Amino acid sequence: MRTDTAQIVRLEDYRPGDFLIDRVELDVRLHPTATRITAILALRPNPEGRADAPLRLDGDELKLKALAIDGRALPAGEFEASPQELVIAQPPRRPFTLTIETEIDPTSNTKLMGLYRSSGNYCTQCEAEGFRRITYFLDRPDVMAVYTTRIEAGRDEAPVLLGNGNLVESGDVDGTGRHFAVWHDPHPKPSYLFALVGGRLGKIAKPFTTMSGREVELAVYVEPGKENRADYALDALERSMRWDERVFDREYDLDVFNIVAVSDFNMGAMENKGLNIFNDKYVLASPEMATDADYANIEAIIAHEYFHNWSGNRVTCRDWFQLCLKEGLTVFRDQEFSSDERSRPVHRIAEVKTLRARQFVEDAGPLAHPVRPAQYREINNFYTATVYEKGAEIVRMLKTIIGDEDFRRGMDLYFERCDGTAATVEDFLRAFADVTGRDLSHFARWYVQSGTPRVTVRGAYDEGAKTYRLDFEQVTPPTPGQPVKEPMAIPVVLGLVARDGRPLQATGERVSRHGVFMLDKTTDSLTFEDVATPPVPSVFRGFSAPVKTSLDLSNEELLVLLRHDTDAFNRWEASQTVAMRLLVSLSKGDPILDEDMLGLSSALNSFISNDAMRDPAFAALVLTLPSEADIAQEIGRDIDPDAIHHARIEMRRRIGQACRGNLQELYTGLADTGAYSPDAASAGRRALRNVTLDLLAGADPDLGERTAREQFESASNMTDRLASLNVLMTLPGDAREHAIDTFEERYRDEPLVLDKWFTLQAAIPEDATLKRVRRLMSHPGFSISNPNRVRSLVGSFAMLNQMQFNRADGSGYDFLAEIVLRVDELNPQLAARLLTAFGTWRMMEKMRRSHAKNALLRIAGKPNLSRDVSDIAQRSLE
Ligand code: PHE
Ligand code: ZN
Repeated sequence: MRTDTAQIVRLEDYRPGDFLIDRVELDVRLHPTATRITAILALRPNPEGRADAPLRLDGDELKLKALAIDGRALPAGEFEASPQELVIAQPPRRPFTLTIETEIDPTSNTKLMGLYRSSGNYCTQCEAEGFRRITYFLDRPDVMAVYTTRIEAGRDEAPVLLGNGNLVESGDVDGTGRHFAVWHDPHPKPSYLFALVGGRLGKIAKPFTTMSGREVELAVYVEPGKENRADYALDALERSMRWDERVFDREYDLDVFNIVAVSDFNMGAMENKGLNIFNDKYVLASPEMATDADYANIEAIIAHEYFHNWSGNRVTCRDWFQLCLKEGLTVFRDQEFSSDERSRPVHRIAEVKTLRARQFVEDAGPLAHPVRPAQYREINNFYTATVYEKGAEIVRMLKTIIGDEDFRRGMDLYFERCDGTAATVEDFLRAFADVTGRDLSHFARWYVQSGTPRVTVRGAYDEGAKTYRLDFEQVTPPTPGQPVKEPMAIPVVLGLVARDGRPLQATGERVSRHGVFMLDKTTDSLTFEDVATPPVPSVFRGFSAPVKTSLDLSNEELLVLLRHDTDAFNRWEASQTVAMRLLVSLSKGDPILDEDMLGLSSALNSFISNDAMRDPAFAALVLTLPSEADIAQEIGRDIDPDAIHHARIEMRRRIGQACRGNLQELYTGLADTGAYSPDAASAGRRALRNVTLDLLAGADPDLGERTAREQFESASNMTDRLASLNVLMTLPGDAREHAIDTFEERYRDEPLVLDKWFTLQAAIPEDATLKRVRRLMSHPGFSISNPNRVRSLVGSFAMLNQMQFNRADGSGYDFLAEIVLRVDELNPQLAARLLTAFGTWRMMEKMRRSHAKNALLRIAGKPNLSRDVSDIAQRSLE
């Protein structure tokens, strides 16, 4: 796996394969170190392929044991086999069967791709290219086959055997202590959706009747003894299935739907047909051990994987360039589900916070790429915020532009037309073009042009004519490989608000009946007639497009929006914009005007007294200051993370002091009452109370420490306990260390809770943290081979601790480089993901920049890097 020679795969080179596989019969004999797989593939030449082509099957670290065509062993001269390829120069030019026997070692598979063991259980991960680590195959998503899988294992070692589809047979293998199960999946699928599981697992289940009356068993499998922590996941699954029936008319299509939680997993979860495999952190929850955020994530990811059954599985991707076709669409669907189950405006704000924190940062750095990339060296490196989150924003914009009804009609047509096929982004857009008669070719640019457009908006009121004009200008900065940008088709949902808060009419020819103005040129302007008084414009309501905006509004005007806008997103946005302006000034050492500070704090004070209790979850968001990383992005160059940190501490102190009375009242008024429930309203109250605590601690550290300690000791749930700990982390001293020890004492046998403990400490904003993190790496609960542990400790240090990761002496970078290289030898995907923390290095001030560059060069220069890590290192340096 050498790197500079690693081939670049290009979208423009796509051509159909030379062979197709209609049916796959697998016989898998599980063994800890020598698992045997016999694959019988029903192959035929692809009429769209080349007639004289050799048959080339993909492999990865495979050992071939036997090979036959139509049951006849193939003589040695007629094929060539290496660990990564099996080539048959002259295969039959008619349908034939190929029987392949391979042997693999699941125990030493630390890459967690293909078949591996996690806590003694066998499981698989095949997306994107893991199936080729099980048997030689045409491992590309446009090869779709019907699979029958026989799994055999020792009954004691693996009493539970699960596969895709429906169980058709099971029993003992007489006299051997082994047993088997045969699973059949009638739906043709690409190999990346294949899965099997074998192990000792506990189960909870419930029946589900689909909209057409079909009976399905829903089940969640977890480590024995943890069944009572899986209820919420099972409930979320049932709600997801109902929702997809109601909102998208999508019904489930097998007799069982199984979810298995495993403790070693590279990603969040995987949508294998009928057998979803989850990182256990997105299944297991109890009030004692999971936070409100954990519950919300479980709900969203369970929904996401379930929704893939249609957007991903029934309609899959032609090639990996189309990844956003399933991921962007499915994120959009899970966001809509969470919005319906929880609070739509609050959820929208949360989505945008993630988009800005992850996707905007990616789009502004060396790893920027289009939602549909044109090329890749390693596909695993494209499971990105851009493909997922920006991909979802594109679907959302489409819905905004064409309206709810046409959007639903387009989705129906897409599912109907493309069911059972491997589709493209063009197929998706065509469905919407066909139902609306619209030309979506300009809109399609969102898939191919990378970078975040910046839209500047200026308003001008004409007192005499009673007109109001808005001038728009869009610019997209250059990104790697795309020096010149074209204007995008940007939907602007807008309204006008009078200074006294009355909404004003904002209609006009250029504003559609869905309230959308399309900005599709570099500059454009819009004039409103009959505007009685000078308005404040409220643009990009609901964050109608994934763009950055510059508004020529004063702080005072923005605070009118915070007070009065009918659009909750823009109310929040206004509060954040004013706070951000002050934070940027403070960070740069510029003076800030007392009246500006006073303006914000009095607006927040009256917001607290008038509005906070009406929607606590929303209020919590308004009262949360932009993060250090947000501020760094806003500044954009020559960043000094220390200055940003201190600016934020200073703002937090000032706001806390100015609002102290109100905050204290809120804190007391929101006291924990009664039993824990993870519902959105209860979570909102906790969120608000905990933000209040944080601001109070900013205003008065002694009060903060006392209150946080009390909360830590009396908390009835993990959300409140962890929030109090987070506050204590900002207050050095014995109380903090004591709380850290108490927490460890209590949860040392709960890996998922210990992860929170690692994260907490990795994020402490002080110089000693790097030492602490190093020390924690030898904690008995830490393991360099478990992705959740590594991400919680090392990942959090690099991603959450701006100041300490970006230390002026470069030691934060050196540390990450060292760990990336160590992890790369075990698990390249995990290593590459950690390495993306260097994505902001070019924005740092000079000293830090040169330290970061040296660390990256050191990584890039190391021999025998994985393709995953070398790809990220090289692109980060380009
Ligand atoms: N397809 C998974 C999802 O988003 C993500 C994933 C990708 C999981 C690759 C494992 C490997 O739902
Ligand atoms: Zn997905």
